[in-house]
Amino acid sequence: MAEQRDPGAGSDGAVEAAFDAIAVPMSARIKVANVSDVPEGEVRVVEPAGKALALVNVDGAFFALDNRCLHRGGPIGEGELDGTFLTCPWHGWRWDVKTGAHANNPGVKVACYPVTIDGDAVYVDI
Ligand code: FES
Repeated sequence: MAEQRDPGAGSDGAVEAAFDAIAVPMSARIKVANVSDVPEGEVRVVEPAGKALALVNVDGAFFALDNRCLHRGGPIGEGELDGTFLTCPWHGWRWDVKTGAHANNPGVKVACYPVTIDGDAVYVDI
């Protein structure tokens, strides 16, 4: 009968080393704009750390989503905002800025990022 071993017992450190080697992505809070840079009902493209995001102001609430449309890479942040839906300027796919979900297929989502307002500064965690 084969001996059963506790995988953690008698470890030579290999398991711990393997966990140490796993890169855990850290998010960073980056100032991307001033509140006054994005009036209500408007969108701006911002590029914190080289990543293009559509920064949206809906009735004073800010949202940030990936600027790259999942259809063919169109610049979502250059589209028209209608309520909470942003329309990609290339072929008209519509995205809910609150969730990143496609208007007709909510299972398809662009990435969204947390936004924090501190005074007049708008920060995004990426
Ligand atoms: S690239 Fe956005 S709808 Fe086609």
